[in-house]
Amino acid sequence: MELIDGKATATAIKAEIKQEVERMVAEGGKRPHLAAILVGHDGGSETYVNNKVRACEECGFQSTLLRFEDDITEAQLLTEVRQLNEDATVDGFIVQLPLPRHIDEQKVIEAIDPHKDVDGFHPINVGRMAIGLPAFISATPKGILELLRRYHVETKGKKCVILGRSNIVGKPMAQLMMQKSGGDSTVTVCHSHSPQLKDECRQADIIIAAIGRPAFVTADMIKPGVVVIDVGTTRVPDATRSRGWRLQGDVDFDAVAPLCSAITPVPGGVGPMTICMLMQNTLAAAKHLYR
Ligand code: GUN
Repeated sequence: MELIDGKATATAIKAEIKQEVERMVAEGGKRPHLAAILVGHDGGSETYVNNKVRACEECGFQSTLLRFEDDITEAQLLTEVRQLNEDATVDGFIVQLPLPRHIDEQKVIEAIDPHKDVDGFHPINVGRMAIGLPAFISATPKGILELLRRYHVETKGKKCVILGRSNIVGKPMAQLMMQKSGGDSTVTVCHSHSPQLKDECRQADIIIAAIGRPAFVTADMIKPGVVVIDVGTTRVPDATRSRGWRLQGDVDFDAVAPLCSAITPVPGGVGPMTICMLMQNTLAAAKHLYR
């Protein structure tokens, strides 16, 4: 069984990005600039955004964090988005999700200039990606494809089962894995209402678990030799940790790992790659690659 080390891979890619940035700066160019909007004080969101700001430093990017309280109105937030759209010093920006319930997330996403949408959430980018045009691609599925490539996992003609159909992971992952220029796999998407989910998983050469249920994928659900990618990051209570919780993936790692040819751990698998792909998208935005 090979452990797919997302942390080490992300470190290597960030070093590649930093090298490219220093080359751009040496040639008189400016540093890529990522801005992030964070609303409220959700613990997970704060951690993610802090990690994104730290990754910017590692890559030699400029970063700006804009923080607002939970009671910001939708109109105020839309004004902030429009200001970032107009700000020529900002190459790309993200609005950290989830947003408070009184704000229409889709409306905010669609207010972002698609050329600055480094999360790849705007329908223009989602649509362009779906038909294989150059576009910002959602960081988690992009990072998974990159991990599969760097670990030389054969995907062409393989049966890939994706658990979960979210806009951020499941749906774009399915698009990328089916595309000729992507995974070139035969793709099945399963979700909470798929009656044959276990049978589908047992036939899979590659399982990508993004269903958001801790330890959902068990040893009886897999074919020996399968490649397992675990996207789950649920905080579960853990009295043995000083902070009282740990991150649990969607896969029962201890039982499943010995049967796999390769598997990503949680943490240290997909998570670090996600932030790293956001950095890649920001570099692409700074270079106007998709304009
Ligand atoms: N919330 C969870 N994942 C993400 C992400 O990739 N981008 C943003 N903006 N919010 C998120």
